[in-house]
Amino acid sequence: MLRVFLSLLWSGSALGLPGTKIYKVKTHILDIAKQRYSCRSYDSRPVEEEKLSLVLEAGRVAPSAVNFQPWHFYVIRGEKELGSFHAAYHREWFRTAPCVIVICGDHSKAWTRKADGKDLCDVDVAITTDHMTLQATELGLATCWVCNFDPLLTRDLLGLPADMEPVVILPLGYPLGEVDPLRHDVKRKPLSEIVSYIGK
Ligand SMILES: Cc1cc2nc3c(=O)[nH]c(=O)nc-3n(C[C@H](O)[C@H](O)[C@H](O)COP(=O)(O)O)c2cc1C
Repeated sequence: MLRVFLSLLWSGSALGLPGTKIYKVKTHILDIAKQRYSCRSYDSRPVEEEKLSLVLEAGRVAPSAVNFQPWHFYVIRGEKELGSFHAAYHREWFRTAPCVIVICGDHSKAWTRKADGKDLCDVDVAITTDHMTLQATELGLATCWVCNFDPLLTRDLLGLPADMEPVVILPLGYPLGEVDPLRHDVKRKPLSEIVSYIGK
């Protein structure tokens, strides 16, 4: 008990909960979430095999609707392979990433809600992608969600079957430059604007 109390006091940042005092809690995940940012400049240094495996493993263990795991990850590396793939997203900075993961959703495997026919594939893909971005951050790597790519060309380049939709392109590598860890104070809406409490 004493150990738990001391560790709560000792580590982490303050977390304000509504209608309560400020609690000192371990916020390792929140720290990593705040460290993650959209990196648009990468070092040419390759991503180590072990680190890439951990990033992919974080994606693998993500939750999905009915645990259907309707996703597939295409890892693109190598000068020639990346060179061909850059056509899918025309940005100079994109060329700096030494590794790219294309996260695809398989609509033939995704869960569809009976009540209204909603296909949850995109939600599942978003969760697995976010797991990867956070794991990458924890390893000192950087990423950037990219969705503004050419989907038809991406399909062609990867030879995807009809049901397999490329949803996110995720450049992965060591970042060049830094980002302000306090940027969320100004770059995100405050909780007061985005949360409604119903009951207590
Ligand atoms: C679904 C989604 C799609 C995005 N697509 C792109 C994109 O095509 N190109 C890009 O440079 N950034 C893209 N971003 C990055 C956002 O611009 C970025 O997350 C947002 O501005 C917040 O900045 P931060 O990630 O550095 O905190 C995308 C982010 C998300 C979540």
